[in-house]
Amino acid sequence: MPPLVLQDRPPVRKNDVAPLIHLDDLLQELIAAGGPMPGEYGMMNRALRLLGDAVRARVISRDEVLAYAQDITHRHLEGTMQSRALGKKFGYSGDFEMIDAIYTLRSAPEPHLRRWDLYFHAQAAPVAVRNRKAYFHQLLNAHTEGGGKAPVQVLNVASGPARDVREWVLENPGREVFFDCVDAEIHAIECARKLCAPFAERVEFYHRNVLRFLPAKGYELVWSAGLFDYLTDRSFVYLLKALMAVTRRGGEVVVGNFSDFNPSRDYMELLGDWVLQHRTRDRLRELALEAGAAPDSINVEWEPEGVNLFLHIRR
Ligand SMILES: C[S@@+](CC[C@H](N)C(=O)[O-])C[C@H]1O[C@@H](n2cnc3c(N)ncnc32)[C@H](O)[C@@H]1O
Repeated sequence: MPPLVLQDRPPVRKNDVAPLIHLDDLLQELIAAGGPMPGEYGMMNRALRLLGDAVRARVISRDEVLAYAQDITHRHLEGTMQSRALGKKFGYSGDFEMIDAIYTLRSAPEPHLRRWDLYFHAQAAPVAVRNRKAYFHQLLNAHTEGGGKAPVQVLNVASGPARDVREWVLENPGREVFFDCVDAEIHAIECARKLCAPFAERVEFYHRNVLRFLPAKGYELVWSAGLFDYLTDRSFVYLLKALMAVTRRGGEVVVGNFSDFNPSRDYMELLGDWVLQHRTRDRLRELALEAGAAPDSINVEWEPEGVNLFLHIRR
């Protein structure tokens, strides 16, 4: 690869404050060196944290930082996970393609871009996303163990690529489970249909907005990850109520939501414009109560990073 010649500094830099200048210096240095090595991740994270603090203190606006992020990403990091997040191909950063790229650890083939993708995938948030796939698998195991009532009916709300479904069914061909997958994005449905083609008779897909439509069936397990973190409290409660209504007695609703403990938050928000509704365990419990869940039916768990929480409601 020819040596990378850095162009002039982005014009937005002129008006900037110290934490942005510091991050820019570091990024320029790392870009020239072909991307960050693992030993440099800590420096990146600290620089992002300082900039995040400056945004929270209103020393600099998020819009200014975003303009900078778009500029430097466009100049040097086109094709990376960071540029995908900023590109919002399907309207927002965490679309099904992005999630699938996280599951499959997709990285750019060009060595100088690849290191940025490795940095992305090492962040706590993508690790938590991969962990939540394993969490769903454990739930499916628990709901199908002991050969009780079969087939187990599962509703997968905002199912995205359904790679989680694919992996579990291929690993557990003998377990009788039927999935209803609902997603509002036709490209997500098409992608999921392909991934689940080897066992098409076990999955029904619905191209619908879950705030307006749910299949009229009863389910042992209702699962939703990567959706509630985008909902306002009002929509959260509204949808949770609807999900509880389609869950059979003895079954459960499990809803994922990023916690307020998210060490990747500054990276996601400042360099990816990826903004979520982070919620605490207590807040999730309050919203479940608002949706009509009995206090003793509510439980909040988390995956090993502690970044993705899971609200469980037993019916
Ligand atoms: C972050 S992805 C999560 C995908 C999947 N649950 C997973 O964790 O792998 C979010 C998905 O929610 C879908 N989505 C967003 N709003 C929706 C809505 N109102 N109704 C149905 N699907 C929706 C998007 O199209 C996208 O595929």
